[in-house]
Amino acid sequence: MSKWTPASWRKRKIVQVPKYPDIEELKRAEARLASFPPLVFAGEARELKSSLAEVARGRAFLLQGGDCAESFAEHGADHIRDFFRVFLQMALVLTHGASKPVVKVGRIAGQFAKPRSSDFEKIGDLELPSYRGDIINSIEFDEKARIPDPNRMIMAYRQSAATLNLLRAFATGGYANLERAHEWTTDFLKDSEAYAAYKDVVNKIENAIKFMRALGINADNTQQLRETRFYTSHEALLLGYEEALTRQDSISKNYYATSGHMIWIGDRTRQPDGAHVEYFSGIKNPIGIKCGPSLTSEELLKLLDKLNPQNEAGRITLITRFGAEKIEQYLPPLIEAVKKSGNVVVWCSDPMHGNTIKTNGGYKTRPFDLILSEVKKFFEIHKNLGTYAGGVHVEMTGSDVTECVGGVSSVTEEELCDRYHTHCDPRLNASQSLELAFLIAREMKI
Ligand code: PEP
Ligand code: CO
Repeated sequence: MSKWTPASWRKRKIVQVPKYPDIEELKRAEARLASFPPLVFAGEARELKSSLAEVARGRAFLLQGGDCAESFAEHGADHIRDFFRVFLQMALVLTHGASKPVVKVGRIAGQFAKPRSSDFEKIGDLELPSYRGDIINSIEFDEKARIPDPNRMIMAYRQSAATLNLLRAFATGGYANLERAHEWTTDFLKDSEAYAAYKDVVNKIENAIKFMRALGINADNTQQLRETRFYTSHEALLLGYEEALTRQDSISKNYYATSGHMIWIGDRTRQPDGAHVEYFSGIKNPIGIKCGPSLTSEELLKLLDKLNPQNEAGRITLITRFGAEKIEQYLPPLIEAVKKSGNVVVWCSDPMHGNTIKTNGGYKTRPFDLILSEVKKFFEIHKNLGTYAGGVHVEMTGSDVTECVGGVSSVTEEELCDRYHTHCDPRLNASQSLELAFLIAREMKI
């Protein structure tokens, strides 16, 4: 077997790669990226791995979520803040409901490249190459706009750096202070049913904080009340970008992906002998593997052997995405196989990607009921098999979008066109996200 290097994936078979017309321009962009500072540090990735090890042991819960695809057009501070506060609200509901620490991982600051089911998209008589995420080409349905442009990688890097900078400030600069939990809300949420339940949780927490303050424990002297840890993650699809941001840690001499704290392999690129698995096998970050209906138990065990030969807790998160109708058929055999093999993993439910449908009006949507149903079944299956349902992975936004149908705020099929803003898959809006958090908190208490 040849030795792993950040570039050894180039000798393997690869799928879902863009065809850049100018290879020299691509090389120049990759060389520039390789000269830029890392976005995250190895020590932070190691810290996340230890927190995920706690999840694997059943002592913490993973909340992972964010946009399906970040976009260059939507990069205002408000957009990031709105996402962050709904995420904090969800985490608060979960921490309170489950009495366990919640490991917070955003699909953000690097979630730009998208795998596609088809290489082409047809509108009317015109057929063009598919949109592959803002890091590769433009969503605009125009021949020139769809040509892969390597300089978009530089733009994605710069946007990720700016996003991360704001997130770090929010997490440690006072915004995430638990004493301010009642402020983490947006006007449009105030009338929703989920918000009333949220207020109730906040009131209980405020009482607990008052009690602790009387004992001398407060936000001034206690970091856990004042700050939170927030990590970033994305699908590491575009390996040229990832390779350029792969760095050797000066302390451990190990290689880390420094494009985000955690990266995952998508459901379409997890071939055991393929390029993506080769790349992931050499970096030491915590990693995710998307598990869809086409993944067999044998293949999964092969992947675990390749990607976690030392069986290190916290290294692997299995993100299962079967759909509400299929989870009972596909998840139990995988759990049994992993259990038998002795592999330690985090089991995480992605209730989004197996529940996408197309409406008569042509919108891609996800019925909220199916999303809730897959999560519920995920918890039930783990309970029956004696394993730990360790996390959820959702596509969500802090804005008041109308992309998934249903929920107490009840987005109807006719309303989808009102505020359908996603660049790729339909996301939960703020109220649906909060409602989902309450459902999970209930499931965790059962
Ligand atoms: C995604 O997470 O946006 C995605 C494409 O998921 P999957 O690889 O599970 O289809
Ligand atoms: Co998606």
